Amino acid sequence: MINILVTGGNGQLATCIKDLESTYSDLNFIYANSAQLNIADFDAVQQFFSTTNFQYCINCAAYTAVDKAESDQEKATEVNVVGAKNLAIACAEKNATLIQVSTDFVFNGEKSVAYTETDTTNPTGVYGATKLEGELEVAKNLEQHFVIRTSWLYSENGNNFMKTMIKLSEGRDLLTIVADQIGTPTYATDLAETIIKIITTNNTQYGVYHYSNEGVASWYDFAKAIFEESNIKIKVLPIPSKAFPTPAKRPHFSVLDKTKIKTNLQIEIPYWRDSLKKALANSYE
Ligand SMILES: NC(=O)c1ccc[n+]([C@@H]2O[C@H](COP(=O)([O-])OP(=O)(O)OC[C@H]3O[C@@H](n4cnc5c(N)ncnc54)[C@H](OP(=O)(O)O)[C@@H]3O)[C@@H](O)[C@H]2O)c1
Repeated sequence: MINILVTGGNGQLATCIKDLESTYSDLNFIYANSAQLNIADFDAVQQFFSTTNFQYCINCAAYTAVDKAESDQEKATEVNVVGAKNLAIACAEKNATLIQVSTDFVFNGEKSVAYTETDTTNPTGVYGATKLEGELEVAKNLEQHFVIRTSWLYSENGNNFMKTMIKLSEGRDLLTIVADQIGTPTYATDLAETIIKIITTNNTQYGVYHYSNEGVASWYDFAKAIFEESNIKIKVLPIPSKAFPTPAKRPHFSVLDKTKIKTNLQIEIPYWRDSLKKALANSYE
């Protein structure tokens, strides 16, 4: 039996892991939400780690409010940098492997072909900067680590773009959506399965990996697909980012190159729109 600690236990990704756990009879998941384990508190992390038995920690805890982070740098740093560092130090003491989840927002979006793991990072906002610093703290403090950068996570759980679009469509017949930010929507359940595969294959090729669904879309494409696949009749108009100003500047292009993870884990990654159909089917179940 492999014991796995999942931090941020009430979040979207952690809930997707929870939904999958019954398919893995040889894995035992221990979930800790923010009230049970504040990863930013070093003593709390030490205490929790000394009393709980596990070989892997999947860090799903993060400060994920991209716009709010611009005016709340201290809190974002506490969770995304100090929290990641605390877990890395505690994992090193325990000889446990840390799987740290990171983001496409570590890039500035000025490329026009998919970003590889070795491309230069240069975040455009506080959220991306703190996530990047978290990655570096993990690498500095622990050899046994995987950093998985992902993008545009959505699912039937938690707060995300798919659920927001469905809610916004109620009582409206027109929505305007940004069309000049290009990336890849990623079904959090697909990411959860991939993370679990790292564990079940006893992978030791530590380092940074990119994982998103296959394909490329704008937020406008994503919104249109959500409505088409759910049979919601609503007009969607494309707008440029400058017509929808936000506190945090977002990368215009953040498609991730997944060659490394596909080769290492020998996985085929689903096309984003195929996974969207699954997520919608699960939402309407
Ligand atoms: N969502 C996306 O589009 C996206 C895209 C790229 C990468 N990512 C990354 O993917 C990972 C999972 O994201 P998600 O969508 O599952 O995020 P989420 O739904 O916002 O979940 C994050 C969880 O972290 C918890 N948390 C916050 N501060 C904490 C602390 N100090 N100690 C312990 N737990 C704490 C939150 O609990 P409370 O609610 O109780 O504070 C929340 O349950 C994150 O690392 C994120 O940066 C997400």
